[in-house]
Amino acid sequence: MKSVRVLGIETSCDECSASIVELKTEDSHLHFKVLSNVTHSQIDIHAPYGGVVPEIASRNHLETIHAVIDNATSDAQMDIGSLDAIAVTNRPGLVGALLVGVSTAKALAYAYEKPLCAVHHLEGHAMSVLLNTTSPLPIQYPLLIAVVSGGHTNLYVVKRSPLEWEPHEFQQGLIARSKDDAAGEAFDKTAKLLGFPYPGGKYLDEAAQSGNPERYHLPRALPSKEDLNFSFSGLKTSASLLIQSVKKEGPFEKEIPNLAASIQEAIVDSLVTKILAATDKHTCKAIAIVGGVAANSRLKSRMQKESKVPVFSPPLNLCTDNGAMIAAAGALQLLRGESLELNQYLRLNAIAYPPI
Ligand code: KG4
Ligand code: ZN
Repeated sequence: MKSVRVLGIETSCDECSASIVELKTEDSHLHFKVLSNVTHSQIDIHAPYGGVVPEIASRNHLETIHAVIDNATSDAQMDIGSLDAIAVTNRPGLVGALLVGVSTAKALAYAYEKPLCAVHHLEGHAMSVLLNTTSPLPIQYPLLIAVVSGGHTNLYVVKRSPLEWEPHEFQQGLIARSKDDAAGEAFDKTAKLLGFPYPGGKYLDEAAQSGNPERYHLPRALPSKEDLNFSFSGLKTSASLLIQSVKKEGPFEKEIPNLAASIQEAIVDSLVTKILAATDKHTCKAIAIVGGVAANSRLKSRMQKESKVPVFSPPLNLCTDNGAMIAAAGALQLLRGESLELNQYLRLNAIAYPPI
């Protein structure tokens, strides 16, 4: 049995988060325990602009990161000196925001003489599903992982346990993605048209609960199951035209639940269709849905109903950006021998758009 404890730092967008996670391995079983997970969300400061302002995000990360890390260590009743490694998101994301986390992680690793794990943000999201329970999930491989967030809609096929991965094996498993907007972006842009605050995904989800998803028909882009990629940019234009015409004919307020349900159905329909087609094509034995949009109630209920294989998702607080998923990915890197020593991490950079 091996056991490691890792501090994870996440600053790639508008959440400043730090967490300490313990990973114990027994044979090939992975037992993760989240000892602390502290997140400072910047949603309130970006909301007046209707989206994330990169410069404001970086400056706010600088102001909050030390307190966030202090709270993560005190919640876990641990000091950094007793940990096995520091993990940090270094790609992809807003470069200025990433740099705050990367510089802090480098300074901590140097001061406390710890190895550093550079984590791909989407690999972090993928690992969030393993943090779900006290007993290990009955996850089987090949596993289809759908990362559906505000910035990405990517499908990956993972052939074996992350304990056995080669470097970059997760990223090389990418089989499909959105050609334009991400699913979360589609939720947020259409929610804005309906008058909801940013980020509007969860408000649209709530409003849709009392609406009829068949009241309005919105187009599904790339409907062929042969093409596993997504496209959501056309939806905003169609939704905008529809909302304008409903506003003209009125009463608009009464129609908001029906509009929300119909828009949500168009997004969820594309996601469900492609995720199930990818699962079939790659004969996957289980599905993991991660990222902010995994919190969507309609996506969850349709996947549970329509999938022939088990579907897993992290709890709500681990669906959106968090340090625990970065600590988990870092702990696995450490056990695989991929962590960086001083002479390697001093050159580590933040990368906005990595090649894979
Ligand atoms: O993973 P995340 O925190 O950030 C990125 O890495 O992008 O995802 C945030 C996204 C936002 O677009 C937000 O509107 C969406 O997740 N979201 C939802 C729901 N909760 C959050 N979308 C649909 N339904 C929800 N219940
Ligand atoms: Zn994310």
